[in-house]
Amino acid sequence: MGKIVAANWKMNLRRDAARALASSLAGQGRDLWLFPGFTLLETVRQATSGSSLKLGAQDVSPEVDGAFTGDISAEMLVDAGATMVLVGHSERRHSHGETSALLLRKLHRALAAGLAPLLCVGETLAQRQAGRAEKVVRDQLGLVKKLTPAAREQFCAVAYEPVWAIGTGQNATAAQAGAMHNLARAEMNTLGMGTVPLLYGGSVKPDNAGELLAVAGVDGLLVGGASLELESLQTIDDLAG
Ligand code: 13P
Repeated sequence: MGKIVAANWKMNLRRDAARALASSLAGQGRDLWLFPGFTLLETVRQATSGSSLKLGAQDVSPEVDGAFTGDISAEMLVDAGATMVLVGHSERRHSHGETSALLLRKLHRALAAGLAPLLCVGETLAQRQAGRAEKVVRDQLGLVKKLTPAAREQFCAVAYEPVWAIGTGQNATAAQAGAMHNLARAEMNTLGMGTVPLLYGGSVKPDNAGELLAVAGVDGLLVGGASLELESLQTIDDLAG
């Protein structure tokens, strides 16, 4: 089986572009995971219906349905056709101040609604330079200790995304990714997440995807900017086999 390619479209695209991209990928029989913005979920669901593509959302409310203006509940995401959801992306941890306590509530809600979480972890540049990268990643993964063993097996993936590599064009080297994936995999094994895939994310492009996919312990890629264009996404997916 090939490795996983997950596309995080972040706050990009409009319905026409999302439909075109998703339909092309579906028509080619690809099995990528797509994470469009909320307003694009229905469009992408329609375009990928009956295909091997999987649909996920980029965030989930920590609350159940109710008076929470602007929030999108886990049940609403399921209703929109999502089967997965990103939790803990660094853009939310850092720009939106999401704490591990909040992330835990989001994980609980997602799991209760039957959504498979994709937990993102990764250190900042300052943390790496201070020699704390391993501890940060271990601590972020440790959040799942507060979940039942059965819940931990429901994650669709964990993604190691060093914050300094996201959107910077400066991807982790194969050695850096390999070292952190070794550590994260060992940690996940002890947490009862031995069967959960571990993805790498951060400035993945067609010209570095092959090298990153070849790293032992990299089960796939979480792609941001390069997932917005059909050609680059196809190239990366082809490399993933
Ligand atoms: P880029 O590929 O644009 O660096 O984004 C990575 C990412 O954050 C995926 O979740």
